Amino acid sequence: MFDLSGRVALVTGAGQGVGAGIAKTLARRGAIVVVSDLYEERALAVAQEIQTAGGETVASAFDVTDPDAVRGEVHRLERSLGRIDVLVNNAGIPASGMQLRSFRDMDPSEWRRFVDLNLFGVLHCVHAALGGMCARGFGRIVTISSEAGRVGMPFGVSLYGAAKAAAVGFTRHLAMEVGPSGVTANCLSLGPMDNIPAPIADAIVGQLPLRRVGKPEDVGAAVAYLASDEAGWITGQVLPVNGGAAT
Ligand SMILES: NC(=O)c1ccc[n+]([C@@H]2O[C@H](COP(=O)([O-])OP(=O)(O)OC[C@H]3O[C@@H](n4cnc5c(N)ncnc54)[C@H](O)[C@@H]3O)[C@@H](O)[C@H]2O)c1
Repeated sequence: MFDLSGRVALVTGAGQGVGAGIAKTLARRGAIVVVSDLYEERALAVAQEIQTAGGETVASAFDVTDPDAVRGEVHRLERSLGRIDVLVNNAGIPASGMQLRSFRDMDPSEWRRFVDLNLFGVLHCVHAALGGMCARGFGRIVTISSEAGRVGMPFGVSLYGAAKAAAVGFTRHLAMEVGPSGVTANCLSLGPMDNIPAPIADAIVGQLPLRRVGKPEDVGAAVAYLASDEAGWITGQVLPVNGGAAT
């Protein structure tokens, strides 16, 4: 089950953290994985790890917020690999880090970069890959959202949460439009992962039924499922991968 042999999967922001875990999981399940990141050296390092473990992979560097770069690279990959079957929109935390700030303390000039990355980055990648998926009658789009897009939090992540929620709303509409073409689109709503600052992790983990932060492999397993043939009747959904948080 959940065999991805022969599928070509593009994972954005896969040069470290959650994205690297997703890329490794998909490669272990047989996919040819494009490890993509803003930083080429990060993408190359993860691709090297996958290759060493026996997986099939290529590294690719582009900025998801740059529509021309995304379109050019996605079409180049389609030509060289034949197709993109699975798109995982994982790039989402600014390369410079999260920089927690209350909304009141933020200047309007600081808002846009969260929306550029977490909403427009998703739109650019989906738009570039969608034509080929629809033409071939198969596609799996998985967008990595956050619990910050589902519930309010007092940590200074309002614009990040707003952009994550927008990507979820977009996915619901996208799913309706492309379902008849054999393409599914779903989101994962992630809880706190193992790379967040300790004070925030401590504040959240005690409330979680499973009492721990998430690991990249937890996310990789959920993506592998949604990318598989077996998940072909699931679209427009948000799967919480959050340690069991209910509110
Ligand atoms: N870490 C968490 O606790 C957590 C919780 C909920 C959701 N998420 C989501 O999970 C995803 C991965 O988070 P992470 O913690 O692994 O982040 P991370 O910062 O560790 O890694 C993100 C990667 O994305 C790359 N990246 C950043 N901007 C990019 C751009 N414009 N174009 C291409 N690549 C870019 C970075 O270079 C980096 O390698 C994000 O969408 C994030 O919002 C994370």
